[in-house]
Amino acid sequence: YRDSKDGDKMNPFAEQEAWEDLQIGKATLKFGSKNRKQSEDYNLVFEDQIEFIQGEVMDGSDVGHDDDAIQEEEEKSMAKSAHEKLLADRKTLPVYRYRESLLEAVENHQVLIIVGETGSGKTTQIPQYLHEAGYTKRGMIGCTQPRRVAAMSVATRVSQEMGTKLGHEVGYSIRFEDCTSDKTVLKYMTDGMLLRQFLGQPDLKSYSVVMVDEAHERTLSTDILFGLVKDIARLRPDLKLLISSATLDARLLRFRSDFQNSRKEVSRRNKFTKAPEADYLDAAIMTVLQIHEEIETAEEILKQRTRRLGSKIAELIICPIYSNLPSELQSKIFKPTPEGARKVVLATNIAETSLTIDGIKYVIDPGFVKMKFYNPRTGTESLQIRPVSKASANQRAGRSGRTGPGKCFRLYTCDCYNNELDDNTVPEMQRTNLANVVLSLMSLGIDDLLNFDFMDPPPSEALLKALELLFALGALNKHGELTNVGRKMAEFPLDPMLSKMIVASDKYKCSDEIISIAAMLSVENSVFYRPKDKQVHADNAHLNFHMGHVGDHIALLKVYSTWKETNFSTQWCYENYIQVRSMKSARDIRGQLEGLLERVEIELVSNPGDLEAIKKSITSGYFPHSARMQKDGSSYRTVKHPQTVYIHPSSGLAKVKELRPRWVVYHELVLTSKEYMRQVSELKPEWLVELAPHYYQLKDVEDLASKKMPRGKGRASKD
Ligand code: CDP
Ligand code: MG
Repeated sequence: YRDSKDGDKMNPFAEQEAWEDLQIGKATLKFGSKNRKQSEDYNLVFEDQIEFIQGEVMDGSDVGHDDDAIQEEEEKSMAKSAHEKLLADRKTLPVYRYRESLLEAVENHQVLIIVGETGSGKTTQIPQYLHEAGYTKRGMIGCTQPRRVAAMSVATRVSQEMGTKLGHEVGYSIRFEDCTSDKTVLKYMTDGMLLRQFLGQPDLKSYSVVMVDEAHERTLSTDILFGLVKDIARLRPDLKLLISSATLDARLLRFRSDFQNSRKEVSRRNKFTKAPEADYLDAAIMTVLQIHEEIETAEEILKQRTRRLGSKIAELIICPIYSNLPSELQSKIFKPTPEGARKVVLATNIAETSLTIDGIKYVIDPGFVKMKFYNPRTGTESLQIRPVSKASANQRAGRSGRTGPGKCFRLYTCDCYNNELDDNTVPEMQRTNLANVVLSLMSLGIDDLLNFDFMDPPPSEALLKALELLFALGALNKHGELTNVGRKMAEFPLDPMLSKMIVASDKYKCSDEIISIAAMLSVENSVFYRPKDKQVHADNAHLNFHMGHVGDHIALLKVYSTWKETNFSTQWCYENYIQVRSMKSARDIRGQLEGLLERVEIELVSNPGDLEAIKKSITSGYFPHSARMQKDGSSYRTVKHPQTVYIHPSSGLAKVKELRPRWVVYHELVLTSKEYMRQVSELKPEWLVELAPHYYQLKDVEDLASKKMPRGKGRASKD
């Protein structure tokens, strides 16, 4: 771009052809974004149908900041006119022109595939149209989103548009957070939550409409939902099923095989770097924006550099956005930019299609994506940085210039785009650990997984690996049938290993401690706060939790129980460099796990003194994640599928070398500069044979123990 002569004259979007073919007869609807003109003469026809509750907090956040209070006052007085504007805005969305045809199509067809580009109003508008047309009299309208943030932010937006309080008529449901009530008629939820809903309500009878949204994202849960909702549609002719997607892919075509493919290609020109990016530092900053730590770093660097430039440049408002960003900070990205300033949004691929931010002019696409990959051979998962697919790159480019001229800067060459990028992103189904979903499907009574109606069947190796793991965990018997343990495990919205750890705690009489640990392991962000300027203080404070015992799991337990003893004191969190927000989230999760214990009839028993019982419960779930120290005294070798791994620097065991146990069990592996184990605890090798005799053979552990452990401490008993 820097060398390009045509600069601003080139507006790739001017030539963009809108695809507005409407094919109701085929029960497929597509719409484009052309002619998105503002028009003054909209009369607010819906206004009297909408109950407007003035002055209620609509963002659902329960945190009241003082300076926010003043702002809130001002906002209240402007709320009325703001709401009118919201209603007017609804009518400027491309989908609005199809409102009537859409309703007619839904009326006449049970299954409808909707293809419309990102930002055209599918997610926020269609459920509202159906609600306005009376569908919610027969049941809820459920709309799935692949991402938590999207579910929350879309529900927030729609509740504002409807002038209702979030959680009342419009609500959302994400794992461990249910913001709905008896009143709720529009429910936005993650695809994983709808999947879980099937477990309790196999016919989805509380819904009149299910909209599987963002189908192009190809998440594991969405792909599985495809198979399940198809069945439900046959079972319940009264249920309306909408599948919506930003792109029309082969899978959708198959879903509706009589669909006539006549989509016109949207032409859009992109700006590539002429040569592979020379300023690698700048390019690198941009390429590392994929996960939140990296986004925060980029934010910091951007802030530093702009500070140095001072008044030489216009104000730059920097807004990071990623999945784990606390919800009260999320709304910042949607706030209008003041005159004379520029807003820069630092985003993960969440902004690719899930979230629409209006007024984006420029997009910088580093060309990479961070994706989880599963290795069925070793059974390990790792986050990897991979080049994006063409489809993703095009979505990213499409974020610019939706409401005016725009440009996309791609930090890779045109040649690379043409020759090196894959056409489509590998669907999650093809690159993930399937144990969780296999367990869910089996508890739905779908035993014959090989013949399940997968849109794109997963690799059989991965399916087999999942069955193997579930067998090892005791969730399946040797005939491949769900066991009692498996049925209990399926009740928990957790990874099977974590669920197994909880179920096992029944035997060791420490379920109270184990659900605290499980909750602490399930919070999105670390509970340990380590501000850059106070790292030494923070580390010292954190060391307290590691004293006298070996392992991160017990340290997490200690953090939780000490906090509980202080009556959940915020002050205590500050003093001990603990993230109060993460702790509150852990407390919520713990509460839900406690409820689930009751459901599976496991008694809540506390046994804080018996660390061995606690560690044995952990090992009962995590025995496949065991590793043994190597001769160098710092690296480890995994026992089952040998590879060299290291203790993650954030672990309490990483700090003091002498503390490091010979044998460890770990929560997960993350691949960054090295293969790191995160959340590591001491393990006695004989436990492996005791707890997983079908997985580890005595001789493995014994050989290792006697050869590598001269003290013979880990020797397993022969009887
Ligand atoms: O689903 P689709 O990508 O087709 O569009 P949408 O998410 O329904 O977004 C339609 C419009 O709603 C966007 O252009 C935004 O202006 C607005 N919106 C918003 O302001 N805040 C949100 N959280 C979601 C959408
Ligand atoms: Mg959407």
